[in-house]
Amino acid sequence: MMRISRGPAGVRGALGAATCAAVAVAAFSVTGHARQARTVSDGVYTAEQAKRGQQLYTAQCVSCHGEKLQGVVGPMLMGEGFLSAWSGRSLADLVDKIQLTMPLQTPNSLSRPQAIDIAAYMLQAGSHRAGPTALNDAALKQVTFTAARPPAAATAPAGGVPIASASNLAQFMRGVTFPNANIIFNVQVKDPGADKPSAPVPFDYLLWGYTQYYGWQAVDQAALALTETTPLFLLPGRRCENGRPAPTNKADYQQFTQDLVNLSKDLYRASQSRNQDAVAGMAEKLNDACANCHKVYRDVGTAEGGGLGTDRCRQ
Ligand code: HEC
Ligand code: HEC
Repeated sequence: MMRISRGPAGVRGALGAATCAAVAVAAFSVTGHARQARTVSDGVYTAEQAKRGQQLYTAQCVSCHGEKLQGVVGPMLMGEGFLSAWSGRSLADLVDKIQLTMPLQTPNSLSRPQAIDIAAYMLQAGSHRAGPTALNDAALKQVTFTAARPPAAATAPAGGVPIASASNLAQFMRGVTFPNANIIFNVQVKDPGADKPSAPVPFDYLLWGYTQYYGWQAVDQAALALTETTPLFLLPGRRCENGRPAPTNKADYQQFTQDLVNLSKDLYRASQSRNQDAVAGMAEKLNDACANCHKVYRDVGTAEGGGLGTDRCRQ
């Protein structure tokens, strides 16, 4: 899938890299005390709402999130993993997430009251008790998930700005790793030395950005970006899309990560030679460095050879 990036998808991937540098640097601290605000454990919804929510959930969500909300191809919607992801956030955020982005294939198809009913069902399934008063739109902002301990994980480089994982592993791969790798794969089909992009009409920021940093400079940057961002595969606290923790403590996963870092350094040196054959000749190795890990941790489960394998990130 990613060895040779021909056609529009590959081109899109390559151009996307210009904007992908943003590595999630999320500073946060949940210092606020729960003034008089309520938490999800304070009986904030009615049993009747949860019942309606359950029907919607069964019809529209169960295939991806599971009968027990345990997560299938979508993340788990209860339990420790879920609660730590939502720690300190309000029910308004959760209802927005449901209404604006779910179900995955038909976002924005639920009404606000329906999304609220589903949230009520999720609370019930997570053993938060029901109460006498129905949850309504106005109350959502005042109800928060109990703040968990801040993730022990956050590391702080100089300046003290913590690096914390904000994306799941799939989002990180799609946003950072994939577009940079595609710039390198593209050297197989296009000589960076002959690359002279011109500004697009009609205007498009991505295409225009590519006219600023292109050719060998873009290949250098992609190799450096992979070198520097790949260790973030191991960032503590990172989850996979299905809610499982990324297998950061597994020795083989760590080794696959190190292998990709090493190869990216070699790719940078090769790029410095400005020799198309030298870089193109390493594309196979790059493909292997991705595939070795994918074979074990990604392309496993019901969806053969990729897609949303249900066993992703199983440890
Ligand atoms: C086709 C599969 C699919 C269906 C159907 C689906 N989801 Fe999801 N859901 C996902 C995936 C994948 C993610 C992770 C990516 C994201 O957060 O956007 C997700 C994320 C979520 C999250 C965020 C979880 C977290 O910890 O951040 C919530 C909440 C959620 N879904 C609720 C629902 C509800 C409610 C429905 C039904 C109305 C639903 N989903 C239907 C696949 C699906
Ligand atoms: C150390 C292991 C590892 C390495 C190395 C690795 N990946 Fe991944 N990759 C994964 C795992 C695990 C997933 C699934 C993550 C999830 O479901 O949240 C994934 C998911 C992806 C996805 C998203 C697929 C989808 O649509 O769900 C893309 C794209 C991707 N990787 C590209 C790459 C490329 C390109 C490389 C090499 C330059 C690479 N990865 C190297 C482990 C790895």
